[in-house]
Amino acid sequence: MYRTKTCGELRLADAGSTVTIAGWVQKTRKMGGMTFVDLRDRYGITQVVFDNDHNSALTEAANHLGREYVVQISGKVAERTAKNPSLPTGDIEIIADELKVLNPSEVPPFTIEDESDGGDDLRMRYRYLDLRRNPVRRNLELRHRMTMEVRRYLDSKGFLEIETPMLVGSTPEGARDFVVPSRMNPGQFYALPQSPQTLKQLLMVSGMDRYFQIVKCFRDEDLRADRQPEFTQIDCEMSFVEQNDIIELFEGMAKHLFKEIRGIELTEPFLRMPWADAMKYYGSDKPDLRFGMRFVELMDVLKGYGFSVFDNAAYIGGICATGAASYTRKQLDALTEYVKRPQIGAKGMVYARVEADGKVKSSVDKFYTQEQLQELKKAMDANPGDLILILSGDDAMKTRKQLCELRLEMGRQLGLRDKNQFACLWVVDFPMFEWSDEEQRLMAMHHPFTHPKDEDIPLLDTKPEEVRADAYDMVINGVEVGGGSIRIHNSELQAKMFEILGFTPEKAQEQFGFLMNAFKFGAPPHGGLAYGLDRWVSLFAGLDSIRDCIAFPKNNSGRDVMLDAPARLDQKQLDELNLEIVELKK
Ligand code: AMO
Repeated sequence: MYRTKTCGELRLADAGSTVTIAGWVQKTRKMGGMTFVDLRDRYGITQVVFDNDHNSALTEAANHLGREYVVQISGKVAERTAKNPSLPTGDIEIIADELKVLNPSEVPPFTIEDESDGGDDLRMRYRYLDLRRNPVRRNLELRHRMTMEVRRYLDSKGFLEIETPMLVGSTPEGARDFVVPSRMNPGQFYALPQSPQTLKQLLMVSGMDRYFQIVKCFRDEDLRADRQPEFTQIDCEMSFVEQNDIIELFEGMAKHLFKEIRGIELTEPFLRMPWADAMKYYGSDKPDLRFGMRFVELMDVLKGYGFSVFDNAAYIGGICATGAASYTRKQLDALTEYVKRPQIGAKGMVYARVEADGKVKSSVDKFYTQEQLQELKKAMDANPGDLILILSGDDAMKTRKQLCELRLEMGRQLGLRDKNQFACLWVVDFPMFEWSDEEQRLMAMHHPFTHPKDEDIPLLDTKPEEVRADAYDMVINGVEVGGGSIRIHNSELQAKMFEILGFTPEKAQEQFGFLMNAFKFGAPPHGGLAYGLDRWVSLFAGLDSIRDCIAFPKNNSGRDVMLDAPARLDQKQLDELNLEIVELKK
């Protein structure tokens, strides 16, 4: 037996017993005739004492242990004289009688401590060492517990876990596909699924009724803190349901996770906010509702007084930061620079402070009388001590998005985005389509299988851009943690949808014929949703990026620096695959 105990479980009650533990040497300290070794495994750290008076040869051997050596130690558990209250095993130590080096280690490239001295790149290159560190290991443990709870919840609701293939056909769903060449079918390619969307719909046609899968999805899109090229969905689909049934069941799952994982009881139903309101009041389809600062439209209040920036604007909107009138000129200049960054793109920012006596002082005082500024104060519902920040622009949607960034930044600066507070909501009634400048056509905002709202179906022919969908996203703290919809289950309506999206009947048949044909064989009404597991875990772990809850993530350029992938193929492999690499001129 390699070990009788782990490095995390010995307590004072074990004093006097003889044990064997195994693990990695965290550190060694020599003090006089004694050598202390901290031995670490997944469960904790235990102090081992080698004493010259007790066994000098063994102590000598311990003095030669290096960091991260894998060793096995036997000895007697003893009460410590100097206890360490910060360690669960801090009341005891092991007086070593035997030491066996199971495997030596080279000096690790960074310290295996909670706060490591290793940079991001180095830790990713040696991710297997990084995973020995407590914070990263804890994230994986959390992820495991969450997937266990997801399975428990869905199983209790009668869901079947069914696997769908990873090698599928290319069905563009918004992002680009990752493709895999087929050796047996020269010149042809599989695609890795962006999600099992169409397959889970086919499972509904099969009568599987309640399906789920914790499944890898692949999307070749630009990476951000909350995006990885391969990520995991908790993918679900149900038959004979309406939007409300789905929302209730998956809100139940969210509440189950909050309770079991974070010990938080959420008793109230989640807020449901129409997409149009989310855009109007927060400039985002995923508003962070941990704090207020709702947008107030100020066109009527500020336009027409000779300030040309506002006079020419298609949208003027403000937010009121409670108690922030003390912001200095320097802080306000920095905020202005923040919104002017190319990623945000505002032209400038106007501010107005409400002073202690109720007077308003603004950066555009010369264009407005005090009475007019009092109107602004009233419109913003601002009080003495508050700071009003205003953006304007000639494109209402773009300006709202810029104001959204400003609101989030102010929320951050004022400490209103506490990671231990959770604001959950459903954003509902998404538009069915959005215009794509790049493609010069309407695109499905969610995906082409989403059912339009029944009452909006007549608009499909006349004003498709006004059609709303039976689609919903769950948003927590400004993160889209999941989304879904009721699906079209009628082959004619599905064909019409492809027509509006600019597919010829032949193209629609070629790409989605399998689905439309299946709908001719008794497809039940159905709908579903997919949660982003990585985002859920990082939310519960309080992480800024989903990378740290993934065992082996990709970096910002989509590379696995540990495996050095992607990489070129050698000629033999290319030949087998019937592939030739041609460098295209840009
Ligand atoms: P959607 O594309 O909204 O819907 O994806 C569902 C959820 O998956 C998460 N997610 C991601 N997480 C990490 N990295 C990514 N690149 C990434 N992309 C998406 C988000 C998102 O809410 N088939 C539909 C679901 C349905 O309609 O049932 C779909 O894939 O949390």
